[in-house]
Amino acid sequence: MSISLNVATDRPHRAAADGLVIPVAAGREVLAKLPAAVVRQLVTESKKRDFTGAWASTALIDDVKGVAAGLVALVGVGKNEPLARQAEALRRGVSSVAQELRPQAAKQLVVTVPEVEQASQLAAAAAEGAWIGTYRFSAYSKKLGEQQRKQALRKVTLLVGKEAASETRSALRSASQALAGAELARDLVNRPANDMSPAHLLAVAKDIAKQSDRISLKTFNRAQAQQAGFSAYLAVAQGSETEPYVMHLTYEPEGRTAETKKVFLVGKGITFDSGGINLKPTGYIETMKADMGGAATVLGVFSVLAKVKPDVEVHGLIGACENMVSGKAYRPGDVIRAKNGKTIEIGNTDAEGRVTLADMLSYAAEHQPNAVIDLATLTGAAVVGLGENVAALFGNNDELKEQLEVASTATSEQLAALPMPPEYRPLIDSPIADVNNSGSVRWGGAITAALFLQEFAGDVPWVHLDIAGPAYHEAHYPPYNQKGATGFGVRLLLEYLKTT
Ligand code: BES
Ligand code: MN
Ligand code: ZN
Repeated sequence: MSISLNVATDRPHRAAADGLVIPVAAGREVLAKLPAAVVRQLVTESKKRDFTGAWASTALIDDVKGVAAGLVALVGVGKNEPLARQAEALRRGVSSVAQELRPQAAKQLVVTVPEVEQASQLAAAAAEGAWIGTYRFSAYSKKLGEQQRKQALRKVTLLVGKEAASETRSALRSASQALAGAELARDLVNRPANDMSPAHLLAVAKDIAKQSDRISLKTFNRAQAQQAGFSAYLAVAQGSETEPYVMHLTYEPEGRTAETKKVFLVGKGITFDSGGINLKPTGYIETMKADMGGAATVLGVFSVLAKVKPDVEVHGLIGACENMVSGKAYRPGDVIRAKNGKTIEIGNTDAEGRVTLADMLSYAAEHQPNAVIDLATLTGAAVVGLGENVAALFGNNDELKEQLEVASTATSEQLAALPMPPEYRPLIDSPIADVNNSGSVRWGGAITAALFLQEFAGDVPWVHLDIAGPAYHEAHYPPYNQKGATGFGVRLLLEYLKTT
């Protein structure tokens, strides 16, 4: 549900709202232009609550005299933190406040933005916290739907100095575009597999292409994918009755020249991963509707590209299918030939994502892009190593990896770079084919998966983000990372595209 984001230059104590958020630096330095009497009350009340202004801490204070808003929420931004950390403190703080105010059905929050040089970025982060933290998926329950309608925050107003107003307006416009894209991704991932088929992803892609004449779509059904040589992908798809679709979206920037960069975003699109003949056991299979998280991120990005208008030619590539068990399913021991000619021995039908991506990466490389970024809920090993809130970053190009790390710092979607030691490559050797799709030892599963993908990335700069943990959360990571789908990567990729 979209939240209206606004800019105002009023004095904070005069702003009428359900809640007024005021940032406070460590040492209880109130970062807002308020009457002295108001500041005195806030300092007294924050002492009572042991609130010191520590990074991302909050304190709620009722009935502050001389303040129009019903409640004041203090958010600590710490001391002398770099801008991105201050932004994250606001994202977190505003998110907790917005969630705490849900039971009383608060409709409007006003946030005082500290008067610093890049105030617009702090304003955007505060808005993000409110939006991300109050998202709920209620499409399948009348009761949850009504609750969400009743409790949803409608409006966030950011108070800034006059000189920052216009820059903040434009920062909020981009933030709300990115948030809408992330929300679409979350809705898609939360949707159960019985309603989230390759055909459903295709319908979303068609809808996106229809919205803008800068975006076009090329699709391949099973027969057309066969014609085009997507044999590895089709081996995974062959076990399912559900029609698979490859979709290739292209966004063409205005005034494209020969110098315009070309970037491929590739998303793993397994709409349900049963494991195939190597069937997943209870305890592992329950969340596998979320195995199209990479595809959802790519669609989330594309859904707003025509508005964000990056000066980059962007391609979105999704090979969508189900990984099912049936008489037609591919088998352990099968050898298949990928689009780039390399042969793959199937060691495990549950390592299906990399098999579909082998063809998608080969296809992307054929187009000789400046960069390929794939996003995939690829391995349980990445989740074991990094937990659910950090994605693994791999790649064959340090500059591209660094660009993503920079974007990650800005959006606070966390990445951890992992190595690809060449001595691990023999772990995916096959005695009869060019490569095996599963490692010969249990260890380093996220890395052997990345080494497998590298075989198909060609010699173009390539990054692989293993988002198996961050795309879909089994636990709540306070304050704003809810259980369920997160939309991980949408803000990150848009930030990357804007700055590349
Ligand atoms: N989709 C899974 C990975 C996954 C696990 C995503 C947990 C989200 C949460 C992937 O297709 C898979 O099954 N990987 C196997 C690979 C193994 C068979 C080599 C895994 O990680 O166990
Ligand atoms: Mn699998
Ligand atoms: Zn999978």
